[in-house]
Amino acid sequence: MKRPGVLGTVGPEDHDAVARLLHRSLVAWYESKLRQGHRFGSESEPYRLIPQVYATLDPGEAVASRDEATGELLGVCFVHPRPTHVSVGIVATSPEAQGRGVARAMLEPVLAKAHSRGVPVRLVSSLLNLDSFSLYSRLGFVPHTLYQDIVVPVPAAGLPVPPPVGASRIRQARSDEAPRIAELERRLQGIDREQDYRFFLTNPVGDWRVWVEESSRGDLLGVMVASLHPHHGMIGPGVAVDETTATALLWNALDAMRGGSPVILAPCAAGGLVRTLYSWGGRNLELHAAQACGRIGLATGLAFPTFLPESA
Ligand SMILES: CC(C)(COP(=O)(O)OP(=O)(O)OC[C@H]1O[C@@H](n2cnc3c(N)ncnc32)[C@H](O)[C@@H]1OP(=O)(O)O)[C@@H](O)C(=O)NCCC(=O)NCCS
Repeated sequence: MKRPGVLGTVGPEDHDAVARLLHRSLVAWYESKLRQGHRFGSESEPYRLIPQVYATLDPGEAVASRDEATGELLGVCFVHPRPTHVSVGIVATSPEAQGRGVARAMLEPVLAKAHSRGVPVRLVSSLLNLDSFSLYSRLGFVPHTLYQDIVVPVPAAGLPVPPPVGASRIRQARSDEAPRIAELERRLQGIDREQDYRFFLTNPVGDWRVWVEESSRGDLLGVMVASLHPHHGMIGPGVAVDETTATALLWNALDAMRGGSPVILAPCAAGGLVRTLYSWGGRNLELHAAQACGRIGLATGLAFPTFLPESA
């Protein structure tokens, strides 16, 4: 018999348990299926950043599943309602409770609520993880964009290549630019997440940088966010009108992360950009598919999703 647990929310008192659950479920799944548990480190402490960020960005929205008898945490699912859509991620079930419907039980009410609002649900799903891929497919998600996770080790002296075209037009975003950045993303990708850009620009939890590139006429061509937090070194989210803009924004972000090895989710369709990342020392790590449940419009430009915050 399936025992998916009792649903509730995640409070600050749960952050340690959530960090342990995220770490344990990822290590157990990737070790047992792919022999890659080491990718997630030996400590759960770095995973505390995830519930901390979401407690500020989307307070009260996370879903938890608990054992009815003991109250033990069985699963978590982070939910990010936005004006145009609802994003979901990360979803995790404790290793002992997997396969008994915990993840499905957490996701079904999220889908029902989004559908009653008439908006799609979006997420980014690993293509190496058939358990999560199947879970999402069964619930009605359909992949629309493929991404390759590329890790780029940046030497302490910076990338051994000259700045690409457009790099000189990149600057840090100003604290009042969230509406303008959100408008660019809405125009290119059809999603509105101004609150995420406000979060990055005010930097209340984590260590975020936001850069923009403008044309010589002052039009916004792209934006790139990076997390410089020691527990989460990743580039994105970002959006750009074309590959040239994206290349300059990524070079600029990598240059700010000297000595680190940040991960970038690069659109597979942007073949020239992907080959440029290889020429900068990039290595493939994993493959992800952006998926949606419900109708989404045709996107233009290039998007760079992340795992924190997963709100694309
Ligand atoms: C992915 C994960 C969240 C799934 O959680 P779970 O609680 O075990 O999932 P559920 O039991 O609710 O559902 C799994 C569904 O996938 C189906 N499934 C699993 N493997 C399948 C396959 N190869 N083909 C078809 N269906 C498959 C199951 O039958 C089930 O569907 P059903 O509810 O219609 O019977 C869990 O494996 C996990 O925590 N993994 C580690 C963390 C992670 O990778 N998270 C996802 C990335 S964010």
